[in-house]
Amino acid sequence: MQTVTVNLVSTSAPRSYPIHIGADILTQPELLLDYLGQKRAAIVTNTTVGPLYLEKFRATLAAHDVVSVPIVLPDGEEYKNWETLNLIFDALLTHRCERNTPIIALGGGVVGDLTGFAAASYLRGVPFIQVPTTLLAQVDSSVGGKTGINHPLGKNMIGAFYQPQAVVADTSTLDTLPDRELRAGIAEVIKYGLIRDPAFFGWIESHIELLLERESSILIDAIKRSCQHKAEVVEADERESGMRALLNLGHTFGHAIENAMGYGNWLHGEAVAAGTILAAEVSQRMGMIGEGDVDRIRNLYVKAGLPVIAPNLGPEKYLHLMGLDKKVQGGKMRFILLEDIGRAVVHAGVPSPILTEVLTECTADA
Ligand SMILES: NC(=O)c1ccc[n+]([C@@H]2O[C@H](COP(=O)([O-])OP(=O)(O)OC[C@H]3O[C@@H](n4cnc5c(N)ncnc54)[C@H](O)[C@@H]3O)[C@@H](O)[C@H]2O)c1
Ligand SMILES: [Zn+2]
Repeated sequence: MQTVTVNLVSTSAPRSYPIHIGADILTQPELLLDYLGQKRAAIVTNTTVGPLYLEKFRATLAAHDVVSVPIVLPDGEEYKNWETLNLIFDALLTHRCERNTPIIALGGGVVGDLTGFAAASYLRGVPFIQVPTTLLAQVDSSVGGKTGINHPLGKNMIGAFYQPQAVVADTSTLDTLPDRELRAGIAEVIKYGLIRDPAFFGWIESHIELLLERESSILIDAIKRSCQHKAEVVEADERESGMRALLNLGHTFGHAIENAMGYGNWLHGEAVAAGTILAAEVSQRMGMIGEGDVDRIRNLYVKAGLPVIAPNLGPEKYLHLMGLDKKVQGGKMRFILLEDIGRAVVHAGVPSPILTEVLTECTADA
């Protein structure tokens, strides 16, 4: 097992926490018992992950006298909303969960984001533990404390920063993950290489087949390196007042794609891959990177089985959807662009003819 620590400085209580990464660690309750002093916990999962891992996990906890309340949500990005959030509150209240009853998220990023937001607001904040079961959640969404839900007018628009007490990433759970979901997670792994680690980008290029084959030690290496990057960025800028925005590479376009195509039709990682190509095309037209760089990025996504051509929504629709994006400041749209493979920057001055050109020439009818 490997452990990465997220070191968060705080004026009051310490908020640093471990990310444990390894095969079969779901059945190692000692990683969690420190946080389960009340001997009671609520476990939030969904109708897909529940049948696979919930009883095994509950049995492990029960063997250490921890009683758990299961809360099983419908599965899907389209359920990341108020109604589903309320199902969690209903269950927590019905079972009289208290202020020191931890809530454990067992699932992918949707379950993690919903559960984290519930934990942030139930009784004004209760302990929260992430047990991510998708690659995307293990390398990205379970770390860093962003929680929330979607609104019909925009993705992740309602939420809170709320850090977990621990993250337990059991890589064995990835065995049951559909290929398409695995590839979507790889998009976020590639993102860390693109924004801040050229050597890691090269490592992914040379290990992409093994990653797709789910070779355990390679997966663990990729997850650990990704979590180290995420931890470093979050440590430096927990509330996204600066460099944390770089983690949104490809996401401004990506969120527009997800929203326009209907939540859940394009997976988040797929939209990020196609969105990153648009960001790279803009960067290239701004004279920041070369055409060879764009090709290199595109080739890696293609090898990873990810989409590289964004749907043609028309520039107006893209701009409208992106105007709702959180990265708008004082009316100016800010983009995350690439200065190099391994170096991303925030840019506020993209001329609109370049945007229109990229959104027209680099997209195709869906
Ligand atoms: N909070 C953050 O910082 C952050 C970062 C990135 C993404 N996100 C959010 O994460 C969400 C995407 O997360 P995701 O990609 O994990 O999607 P997801 O949670 O929808 O999971 C993908 C699918 O895989 C299933 N699944 C999960 N674990 C499984 C397993 N071990 N075996 C078989 N099936 C399994 C799920 O039930 C679901 O059908 C988006 O809502 C996105 O906005 C949040
Ligand atoms: Zn993302």
